Amino acid sequence: MGTITCVGLGPGDPDLMSRKAARLIEAGLHVAYFRKAGQTGQARRIVEGMLHPDVTEYPMEYPVTTEIAFACIDYNDLLASFYDDWADRLFQMAQSRDVIVLCEGDPFLYGSFIHLHARLQGRCPVEVVPGIPGMTGCWHATGQPITWGDDVLAVLPGTLSETALVHHMQQADALVIMKTGRNLPKIRRALTTTGLLERAWLIERGTMPTQRVIRLAEAAEHDCPYFAIVLVHGNNGRRPERRQEPDRSSVEAHSHHETTVNGHHS
Ligand SMILES: C[S@@+](CC[C@H](N)C(=O)[O-])C[C@H]1O[C@@H](n2cnc3c(N)ncnc32)[C@H](O)[C@@H]1O
Repeated sequence: MGTITCVGLGPGDPDLMSRKAARLIEAGLHVAYFRKAGQTGQARRIVEGMLHPDVTEYPMEYPVTTEIAFACIDYNDLLASFYDDWADRLFQMAQSRDVIVLCEGDPFLYGSFIHLHARLQGRCPVEVVPGIPGMTGCWHATGQPITWGDDVLAVLPGTLSETALVHHMQQADALVIMKTGRNLPKIRRALTTTGLLERAWLIERGTMPTQRVIRLAEAAEHDCPYFAIVLVHGNNGRRPERRQEPDRSSVEAHSHHETTVNGHHS
């Protein structure tokens, strides 16, 4: 019996994958990956030039091509049978060989592999190799920390309703909004309602060769690519600041007293 190993590839730049991921990809003889019909697929693009010369590839082509709300019944049925089918096929393959499944970012963060993982439990050995999530690549692309001190970070799927987006945005200090694409106008409205639009950034294809980083308020209204994240950096968190130097008269007045900051003598 072989093992099905899902390998997290990181956000896009191949240099950002782990050594374990690279080792498994270079040695793998059976490599599967998700992609939209007729496209190369982001995961496959990341490993270009790394695959074994004798590899057999298994593109798993989605039956639908856009991010649609979960409430859509036909969409759910189509996807469920797609995942059932591929779970069965990978299980059959694993009877006699190891199989690698490629996954952009980290597999356990909204990764499509999660749907196969659930269906393969108890049937054959399944392993998952962590990857740097896309959002990490995106906040580094802005060159600013996403959270300070005790900032609360919320990660929101853009597929949520506008009401739910507004609700969650009001609870957090810093935001990551994923699955943007066609949901961008709704996300923009929710950020406007919560007064956060001016602080929001749009990062398209973070760490990939075609990366674009712009303020959301300056971005065009139209759809952004599938690989796009909206970020709001936290700025409310408690953070240690060096106290202002007291003026001379104050130094003299307090020179005979010891003070403490957070339990430490100063
Ligand atoms: C189905 S989720 C998969 C997330 C992935 N497993 C991860 O760890 O980032 C796909 C969404 O992730 C976001 N995403 C992932 N990588 C990205 C990147 N490099 N740049 C921009 N957005 C990215 C986009 O919002 C995209 O719609």
